Amino acid sequence: MSQRTFSIIKPDAVKAGNAGAILAEISKAGFKLLAIKKIVLTKAQAEGFYYVHAERGFFGELTDFMSSGVIYPMVLEKDNAIADFRKLMGATDPSKADAGTLRKLFATSIGENAVHGSDAEDTAAFEIGYFFAGYELK
Ligand code: CMP
Repeated sequence: MSQRTFSIIKPDAVKAGNAGAILAEISKAGFKLLAIKKIVLTKAQAEGFYYVHAERGFFGELTDFMSSGVIYPMVLEKDNAIADFRKLMGATDPSKADAGTLRKLFATSIGENAVHGSDAEDTAAFEIGYFFAGYELK
């Protein structure tokens, strides 16, 4: 069944000039790019997005990084999009990611790992709504 997931091309990947190559891999894997925008988050906006990690030791580092430059938030659609996109991304730590995954190809560390992808239906709904209004998802 067709499903939506949410992804971000993170500041490290944008700065390295890899956004186009990442979009090409996503397209090759069969995802429809339903919506995309270019934005620089404030620190507070990054904290709001990652609120579930607020108690984690890396929260400050994560939200500094995610507000450090241009990101491309996007909504992707395909059958089984959430699980399939997580497979395409690979493990959070790029040293543990399978060959051919986005993080193996483009990430440099667990913190600067090129892409984000939703991990479940409820988080996908929250994350899509954090960046996109309904009229942008037609
Ligand atoms: P993401 O999928 O965007 O969701 C939470 C992010 O926290 C994760 O990717 C990593 O980039 C980051 N993260 C997870 N663990 C660590 C860690 N130990 N140190 C720094 N960042 C981390």
